[in-house]
Amino acid sequence: MNTGRFITFEGIDGAGKTTHLDALERAWREAGHEVVRTREPGGTPLAEQLRGLFLHEPMDSLTEALLVFAARRDHLTQVMEPALARGAWVLCDRFTDATFAYQGGGRGFDLKVLSTLESWVQGTRQPDLTFLFDLPPAVAAARLAGARQPDRFEAQDQVFFERVREMYLTRMAQHPERFVLIQADQPQETVARAIGLALAARGVA
Ligand code: TMP
Repeated sequence: MNTGRFITFEGIDGAGKTTHLDALERAWREAGHEVVRTREPGGTPLAEQLRGLFLHEPMDSLTEALLVFAARRDHLTQVMEPALARGAWVLCDRFTDATFAYQGGGRGFDLKVLSTLESWVQGTRQPDLTFLFDLPPAVAAARLAGARQPDRFEAQDQVFFERVREMYLTRMAQHPERFVLIQADQPQETVARAIGLALAARGVA
């Protein structure tokens, strides 16, 4: 039985998810919940190794899609499904919406193939709630500028991130019950308040 909660954070690189993931993790731990804070690609020793390859090695789009779903499969079977089954709250930095946005939108990879891989790898498992941090790619790029050596995705141009952003918004339109749109170019306190209100409205606290 799934008594846990599965919440994901999504958005283009530089959208500012981490601060709010940290705050939510802290608040839920203080409230006494078992919290599993994790990320994709990653979250298991194998998936973290795949992440290194995914972010840094040149590869074609199909390899990219297969690799991220392989990492996801390991993450789901080893960490996420057991956590949800025992009632833990799973807080995940990115999930399959990122694959549709980056591989489907950004790279232009076949969405039907992604849907097939999605159902092979995760069956009917979907997040209970997804916060989509939305902001103009130019603002996100300015935030990231000079932060560190960019990976294969961070190094993409703004046109790529426009496509990623559009596909996130499309995905949200297809699953309106699951998504909450966050205007991520607002002050941090405003974003935190919006997240708190959305959680309260769904009875998550
Ligand atoms: P992160 O830096 O937010 O942890 O995400 C890693 C990068 O991987 C980010 O640029 C988005 C990208 N990514 C994909 O392209 N497809 C995916 O399915 C996932 C989960 C991430």
